[in-house]
This record gives sequence, C-alpha cells and structure tokens, in this order.
Amino acid sequence: MICDQILIQQHGDENQLQLTQRELAAPGQGEVLLRQTAIGVNFIDTYHRSGLYPLPLPSGLGLEACGIVEAVGPGVKTLQAGDRVAYAGGTPGAYATHRIMPEAKLVNVPRDIPDELVAGTLLRGMTAQYLLKQTYPVSAGQTILVHAAAGGVGQILCQWAQGLGVRVLGTVGGAAKAELAQGWCDAVLDYTQPDWVAAVRELTAGAGVPVVYDGVGAATFLPSLDCLAPRGLLASFGNASGAVESFNLGLLAQKGSLFVTRPTLGHYTASRAALVACADDYFQALLSGLVQPTVGQRYALADAAQAHRDLAARRTTGGTVLLP
Ligand SMILES: NC(=O)c1ccc[n+]([C@@H]2O[C@H](COP(=O)([O-])OP(=O)(O)OC[C@H]3O[C@@H](n4cnc5c(N)ncnc54)[C@H](OP(=O)(O)O)[C@@H]3O)[C@@H](O)[C@H]2O)c1
Repeated sequence: MICDQILIQQHGDENQLQLTQRELAAPGQGEVLLRQTAIGVNFIDTYHRSGLYPLPLPSGLGLEACGIVEAVGPGVKTLQAGDRVAYAGGTPGAYATHRIMPEAKLVNVPRDIPDELVAGTLLRGMTAQYLLKQTYPVSAGQTILVHAAAGGVGQILCQWAQGLGVRVLGTVGGAAKAELAQGWCDAVLDYTQPDWVAAVRELTAGAGVPVVYDGVGAATFLPSLDCLAPRGLLASFGNASGAVESFNLGLLAQKGSLFVTRPTLGHYTASRAALVACADDYFQALLSGLVQPTVGQRYALADAAQAHRDLAARRTTGGTVLLP
C-alpha cells in the first residue's frame, strides 16, 4: 500500500521536512500495519531534524502516534485488525499516514481516551511518570521546581505532582504562559526575569527544593543548582534552550553535595513490562482525572514544518498533534 510520510534527506531547519509517498510492504514477523489517526510532535523531533541528535539519513521523524491495527504479520500474538493502539518511542518515523511497527512497542489504549490526547501526550505523560515516580520519587508535602511549566511535559508533571500532594513551583517564559500555568502550579515564576532564583529561595524559606525537573537545558542548568537544597537532585531531561555544556564537577560539592542525572524515557521503558507499566500508570492518571493535559496545537501532516517552527519559537502550550 502507498502511504504519505514526512522525510528528511539532510539535517537542518524546518524546510528539510518534505511530504513524500512510499510503498509499505506487508508487516513481517512480529510486526503490525497501523493506520495512524493522530501523531504527536515532541521537542525531541526538532533535535532529530536539526542533527543535535543525529539520525541515519534519509530518515522519517516522530516517535509517537495513536492508530488502528489494519493487519498483523506472522507471530503476532496479542493484537488483531481493528485494535486501537499507541506508541511513544522507538525509531523515528511517526509522521506518516500508515506505519509498520513491532508489536512489542505498542500499547493498548483505553476506550475513553481520545486519539488526539493519546498521540499528543503519551510520550510526555510517560516521561512525567518516570521522572516523578522513578528518577526522584516525590512525596506529599515536598516542594519541587518544574521548568517550562506551561509546556507539554511541564503541564503533566505539575498536574501529576499536585495530585500526589506535592507543592509545585513552575517556571515559564512570559506573562501569558504564567497565567496559564497558575492552573497547575502553586507558584509561577517567570525565568525571563532576573530574580527567579531568589524567588525560589524565598518560597522555600531559604531551604531550596529537593528536586528540579529541567527540560530547558543550557539556559537553566546552573541557576537550577542554586535552587536545590543540600543533597538535592537536578533531573536535566532535555535541551529546549540548547545542550548543557560540560561543567565543573566541584560545583556540586560547593552547592551542597548535589546530584545531577540526565535521564531518557528509553532507558526507563527498555523492557516490555516497564513500558506497559509506565503507559498504564499514565492512562490511569488520565482516566481518574488526576492529570488533565491539553492538546494546544493541531496541524495537517503536510504542515509538520510549521509545527516545528511553533515549538522552537515557544509559541506552543501543552501537546501538539499532526492529523493525517
Ligand atoms: N529525557 C526524556 O525522557 C524526555 C522525554 C520527553 C521530553 N523531553 C524533553 O523535555 C523538554 C520538553 O519537551 P516538550 O516536547 O514537552 O516541549 P515543550 O515543553 O512543550 O516546549 C519547550 C518549552 O521550553 C521552553 N524554552 C525555554 N527556552 C527555550 C528556547 N530557547 N527555545 C525553545 N523553548 C524554550 C519554552 O517554554 P517557555 O516559553 O515557557 O520558556 C518551550 O515552550 C524538551 O527539552 C524535550 O526534549 C525529554
């Protein structure tokens, strides 16, 4: 069958994203043919496009989608045509109308969660899951700091943490996002203003926070260390403002025997059991209403380049989807 797919021939800017057509073979051993109904656009897709995270070229883009199984290959045991499934991770190539995926990467989707919500938030939701419950398991009564709190991961992290009884300080760029993030933060700080680190100290009576969740990277790395309590953890999980450069390890001693980790979803969902447990925990958080993320942007598949422009220009809030 013929499918539409976004491909890049070279790393570079948004103009590298080209809509092409390609013939899909029948699913092979352990594989499934999916008709994709909604596709997630994540910040990592921009790193794959630009070459910050290089890919073998030419390459598809995108790690996340929701769809319907159209056909299954030999040896597929748990899925059949008509099943509704999703994935978040694996090899880039989600920006397509149809896709062949390994059965092992797919999770079943509860009936009551709409396709757009799944595709626009599963990767970010699973990220919030492992950050809050595995990287640094938060406890009720703690105060934490979350950067880019109006963004896709940020919104879910904050809502989920609040649902667990945690007091959340969130940072955002600008007044409009600050107003939005008030909905899921106990206090919002604008990190485009100079005094936000002092404000974190004030809000914690000088103590600092036990953990900072930081998907912004270069711009927030060093000031985040100043927000931590002694023996606190900086979970630096992304590079929206650029990659963190090497730093003096001695700073961690000077600033209070601190810890830094650079986690990725892939390592926290490496086994089938871990993947399913992480996705199910996120789906339960959605179904219970503990987490109520928004999909703020929708684009046609052909307009994927515009989705990348908007994400990089900080014009988005919540999740972003392409609709094939
Ligand atoms: N390690 C993992 O497992 C994992 C998994 C998923 C996502 N991530 C990372 O988590 C971060 C958030 O991902 P997301 O897809 O949900 O994106 P997002 O938060 O929706 O968008 C990124 C946000 O970062 C902020 N930002 C600060 N400085 C920026 C700059 N110079 N350029 C662009 N944005 C800047 C912007 O918010 P303000 O305007 O409020 O500053 C922007 O909206 C990304 O770094 C992503 O790579 C990591």
